[in-house]
Amino acid sequence: MTELKQNIASSVKKTIAQLYPAAVISEEEIFGMLEYPPDDNMGDIAFPCFKLSRTLRAAPPKIAAAIFAELEKELPAGVGKAQIAGGYLNFFASEEFFKNAILARLAEKGADYGRTCEGEGKTVVLDYSSPNTAKPFHIGHLGTTVIGHSLKLLHEYKGYSCVGINHLGDWGTQFGKLITAYRKWGSREYIEEGGIDKLVELYVKFHEEAEKDASLNDEARAEFTKLEHGDEENLALWRWFIEISLAEYQKTYAQLGITFDSYNGESFYTDKMPEQVQILRDKNLMKIDDGASIVDLSEYNMPPCLILKRDGSTLYPTRDIAAAVYRDRTYHFDKCIYVTSAGQSLHFAQWFKVVELMGYDFASKLYHVPYGTVSIGGEKLATRTGNVILLRDLFALAIEKVRAIMEEKNPNMQNKDEAAEAVGVGAIVFYYLSSNRIRDINFVMEEALDFNGNTGPYAQYTYARTCSILAKLGNEAHENVYNIEGIEKAERDLMKTFSLFPEKVDEAVASMEPSIVTRYILDLCGAFNRFYQSCPIATCENAERRAFRIALTRGTRDILGKALELICIKHPEKI
Ligand code: ARG
Repeated sequence: MTELKQNIASSVKKTIAQLYPAAVISEEEIFGMLEYPPDDNMGDIAFPCFKLSRTLRAAPPKIAAAIFAELEKELPAGVGKAQIAGGYLNFFASEEFFKNAILARLAEKGADYGRTCEGEGKTVVLDYSSPNTAKPFHIGHLGTTVIGHSLKLLHEYKGYSCVGINHLGDWGTQFGKLITAYRKWGSREYIEEGGIDKLVELYVKFHEEAEKDASLNDEARAEFTKLEHGDEENLALWRWFIEISLAEYQKTYAQLGITFDSYNGESFYTDKMPEQVQILRDKNLMKIDDGASIVDLSEYNMPPCLILKRDGSTLYPTRDIAAAVYRDRTYHFDKCIYVTSAGQSLHFAQWFKVVELMGYDFASKLYHVPYGTVSIGGEKLATRTGNVILLRDLFALAIEKVRAIMEEKNPNMQNKDEAAEAVGVGAIVFYYLSSNRIRDINFVMEEALDFNGNTGPYAQYTYARTCSILAKLGNEAHENVYNIEGIEKAERDLMKTFSLFPEKVDEAVASMEPSIVTRYILDLCGAFNRFYQSCPIATCENAERRAFRIALTRGTRDILGKALELICIKHPEKI
């Protein structure tokens, strides 16, 4: 639709210049004023004349009528009809526009319809997922993982080259606790057998025991200090704990189809922090407060940013500062995006300010993308205790339920396991990415799996339906696909929905909001299913129209498949 908007803006601009030579208004301003009417009867694009009435000193309906009288002589390209409605000028796209500008381009580009080169030559670094090692993925990690990866795919679709970084929480006192707990209550066989779950058990046990005996905390601190000083035994344990954690995370990433370009975690920046601490000192940005080194941010209405603890050890912000400098030097990024829960917003605001004060140019290229909390059945999820909802359990439950439904509906189906996993996991991701990221979500499994609702399974079924139609009819070729006369409403609506895909991708990137794509998927599925119900394809007698409808089905498949992929959802051809 952007193209049509441009044509309209250009014609309206010319007409205004002709009618009101004194008026100063640019084509961009007019473009920005164009709206999508809430109802199809009001056209595909509307130009409201209200804002102009001051500049042009005339009532909006009068302006609309005057512009209309001129425009009617030569309608903007791609416009089939224009109308006045009060202070609005309403434009209807022509059939030719949909057939030639939309459908023909879609047939040529397939899943690349909507891809642009806007980001060419630019690099985007995305820091997401980033779990704290030795703890399994819980439902709170779903957000950073799927929002982060989706933003990566969306940027790639716009031509950016992207670097996905899993900034593992692989350093810190928790390793001192784990090492202490392992030596006291664990063994190699015990961990090898149970993997990450046993690490969690040890961690939980440590906290329980430390409640009773506070000296355990001192022991843990001492173990961490040894680790920091390169103690070989502790280092070997630490490496092993990370390996076990990563093996566990990989299972979840595989289910989601997610890979990373780098797993440089917090420990990677250990030797890169002193330089930054020295710069803070040299620039007189740091001061000592109760023994700790801080950057005072009261001038910016924020609490101080902690750089060094009393004992000289570094903190979370210190590592983030060193990591940002490293990324700037390594990747020369145009954007560096951090996806975390909104609970960390202050942390990011603080250290973003610190790097700005340090004089780094890249400070203005850092973006924090926050998201809300997830609860299940109204309960918030705890992390410190063993009482957490693990992502893998949630996925497993969804997969099991989907499998049971498939068993009942389609017992002879091939690849049942694969399809059940794609649909079960997809249902959870889709549900999660349906609302604006900043909203808190209450997860309800029945809603996510409702095959008739606005859900992932519904979208995947629609995709599979297009594939099965094309498997039967897709080889039918017809030259005159675009020659048919008199498009039906459902056909027109579907093409109009196609035309909106590229701008939905743009919006999603601009606002870093994958849910825009999720909602678009529902619009597309709705438009396709209405078309499918009212427009017979296989039984359509007219060969040209049948070919046209096959082309519409192919267009749906290409866009729907790409859109699902962009929000980390797999799309089997058969379900
Ligand atoms: N490991 C952190 C956590 O689980 C998230 C890290 C986010 N990235 C960053 N560069 N701080 O809360």
